[in-house]
Amino acid sequence: MLESTDRAAAITLNKVTVRLGGRLVLEDLSLDIPRGKVTAVMGPSGAGKTTILRLITRQIRPETGTVRVGETQVNQLKGRELGRFRRNLGVLLQNGALFTDLTCFDNVALPLREHTDLPETLIRRLVLIKLQTVGLRGAAEMYPRELSGGMNRRIAMARAMALDPDIMLYDEPFAGLDPISLGVSLRLIREINDAQDTTSVVITHDVDEVARLADHCHIIADRQLIASGSPAELAESDHELIRQFMGGHPDGPVPFHYPAPDLAEQMLAGQAR
Ligand SMILES: Nc1ncnc2c1ncn2[C@@H]1O[C@H](COP(=O)(O)OP(=O)(O)O)[C@@H](O)[C@H]1O
Ligand SMILES: [Mg+2]
Repeated sequence: MLESTDRAAAITLNKVTVRLGGRLVLEDLSLDIPRGKVTAVMGPSGAGKTTILRLITRQIRPETGTVRVGETQVNQLKGRELGRFRRNLGVLLQNGALFTDLTCFDNVALPLREHTDLPETLIRRLVLIKLQTVGLRGAAEMYPRELSGGMNRRIAMARAMALDPDIMLYDEPFAGLDPISLGVSLRLIREINDAQDTTSVVITHDVDEVARLADHCHIIADRQLIASGSPAELAESDHELIRQFMGGHPDGPVPFHYPAPDLAEQMLAGQAR
């Protein structure tokens, strides 16, 4: 891959290598996330997608290589700077649970109460606007357990954007959603991106949905970036690996099995569990 030097990019990973628990997870990976767009990071399960998100939020640091967000060299952040940096990232985690003992209103208000000194009257207005954006102002005083999974996801979205971050990061936002909730989520991600001029990163293995949403896609496999382009460009690709992935075919260059010792040998050695 080319070395990343695109200053217009909101996020740049440059020759990043990550090892976790002794396993090489990403190797010499470079990619740009364009500003103001919705970018999908796709790839088979275990490819390293969530790892990329954790690099961006500086939960982990690469062994080698750099991560830049805006003008910030993320690897060098410490203490208070890191806190300030993270406030500008809206993160919707894969299992991003709400606080069950707080109402929807209080869940969304939490980051505002924690990170700003705004008076309660203003917080109230901001929270109601966010709830309105996700279509759940009417559920402000309800508790998460009283709402469907899809609605919970939307409350979590409202909470993630409470501080009006420049960047929204979504990890598998469509997992487990019924088709209607899924359509609502797709539309919301797009609307939030366009209305607030946000940069959005959507991590997903859900190829069909992404084709309806993303401006730009990166495909990760084998610890590396194997392709980038618009959904239409990738759908046209004749690269075997990309075709396998875009077509959702089980057989192809991406192996079905997680790397493991030879089964017969392992059984004979009496180590199989
Ligand atoms: N803390 C960890 N220790 C060891 N291996 C890890 C750790 N976190 C993730 N991995 C491994 O790194 C690889 C990539 O993980 P991840 O980024 O979560 O994949 P994806 O989100 O694409 O499904 C997987 O093989 C996973 O098992
Ligand atoms: Mg993941």
